[in-house]
Amino acid sequence: MSDKYYENVWDALPFPSFVVTSLGEITQANAAAEQLVSTSYKQMLTKHISQFFTDNSIINSTLKQAVKDDGSVTQYNVDIAVIGQSAAVSNIYVSFINPNRTELLLVIQPTGIAQKMSQSLTNLSAARSVTAMAAMLAHEIRNPLAGISGAAQLLAMNATKDDSELADMIVQEATRIGKLVDRVEHFGDQRPMHAMPVNIHDILDRAQRAAKAGYGADILFNVDYDPSLPNVSGDADQLLQVFQNLLKNAAEAMDGKHGTIKLRTSYNSGVKLVMQGKNTQNLPMKIEIIDNGCGVPENLISEIFDPFVSSKTNGTGLGLSLVSKIIAGHGGLVECNSEQGRTNFCIRLPAWREKKEAH
Ligand SMILES: Nc1ncnc2c1ncn2[C@@H]1O[C@H](COP(=O)(O)OP(=O)(O)OP(=O)(O)O)[C@@H](O)[C@H]1O
Ligand SMILES: [Mg+2]
Repeated sequence: MSDKYYENVWDALPFPSFVVTSLGEITQANAAAEQLVSTSYKQMLTKHISQFFTDNSIINSTLKQAVKDDGSVTQYNVDIAVIGQSAAVSNIYVSFINPNRTELLLVIQPTGIAQKMSQSLTNLSAARSVTAMAAMLAHEIRNPLAGISGAAQLLAMNATKDDSELADMIVQEATRIGKLVDRVEHFGDQRPMHAMPVNIHDILDRAQRAAKAGYGADILFNVDYDPSLPNVSGDADQLLQVFQNLLKNAAEAMDGKHGTIKLRTSYNSGVKLVMQGKNTQNLPMKIEIIDNGCGVPENLISEIFDPFVSSKTNGTGLGLSLVSKIIAGHGGLVECNSEQGRTNFCIRLPAWREKKEAH
């Protein structure tokens, strides 16, 4: 393909992107980058990247770290301020682009765009409000529900055929509400997390076995594990719940028989999560659940991690909200990238040893 073709691709990228030398001098910038720093590409050439951003922007240190680690670095949720503008929370990616490691690609992704990709960082407060509601729901609904169900069963005994069908319906619907209450209550479970070294491949295998024995019997599972992956720092039961919820969603997104779910793990040393007022967390463990189903409905993508968001007739919309709550409790991150025919849920978690060393 021609240079012109790549130039067009480069300029069409919606994310501000720069190519810089290992010393930080700009050698390329795309149209989104020109717009971000309000400077033409020609004027940026050979200038140092830090000239365009305020001192406290994390860009310089990220570049230095990539050079030092000789690899790629991703930082989530950092403040990036162009000189003369207010800071915007962004994710930044830095990676070498040539084999002799003299040039790096720097991509800045404002989290406004990240939200379109659906990340679970922002909905912790929603999870908390559901948690408070859960206890109330469980107490206030269970008893009257048992009464309704019992009364309907009594009525059914002496009823005509039509009436007994209606009574059965009351019992069925009451059972459904009961299940919802169970799930909401489970969501509100506030037991503290017990971080232990967890072999994530064991957890994935267990989730997979459960799926194959039930809702996922027709689905082809495709496993791509990095065998050298160290243990995750986490709670095995909670993580099992996470992957069961993700596999169930993936299975439910399949129509017909050609459903494939891929489970992939890898180690990415450069991924860090920066949360305001907290220590930077290394998140090298990457676990992806990829399905070839219908994709997340476009109008839902920005809110699928919120509680009670569901496109399913009998869905509670609590599955992903619980995933997000558990992963946040682990100090990790979950992202969803979805289009028709390919949905990828990517989870990043801390490794066991690293976390120990940090203490
Ligand atoms: N793998 C996927 N492919 C397509 N859409 C998905 C996928 N995972 C989640 N979704 C979408 O996100 C919504 C929310 O998922 P979530 O698991 O929170 O609730 P649910 O599956 O609808 O209900 P429940 O988990 O209680 O059965 C789903 O209704 C669906 O629209
Ligand atoms: Mg679900």
